[in-house]
Amino acid sequence: MDSLGKFLQTGDWKGEKHVPVIHCPNKVKADEGFELEVSIGDAIKHPNTLEHHIVWIKVFYLEKGGKFPVELANFNFSAHGEAGAFTEPVGLAYVKLNKPGKIYAISYCNIHGLWENSIDIEVE
Ligand SMILES: [Fe+2]
Repeated sequence: MDSLGKFLQTGDWKGEKHVPVIHCPNKVKADEGFELEVSIGDAIKHPNTLEHHIVWIKVFYLEKGGKFPVELANFNFSAHGEAGAFTEPVGLAYVKLNKPGKIYAISYCNIHGLWENSIDIEVE
């Protein structure tokens, strides 16, 4: 079967403006809430115009050894200059975990497609 996964692009966010940057602690306490922020363009700003913009970022968590990712957050950025209004591609969620695992973020640019990033997270 042809999978959508093969179209997920990635890279170093410091040099590739589409890669979502995941901001959260490397290690958190079990069942204690923490801030998880995702953003695009921390190093190189991505355009935000009607013609070219980031449409959404989705965030998933996969527990260590797990098979099924859990969607943690879904951020839609809907304004790209209409009446002078802009939504910048930044999203903040308040998350609790009780097992270590991986956080994945996937972003979608209306011109350049799907981009992903991931980080490991320890839970103690
Ligand atoms: Fe783009």
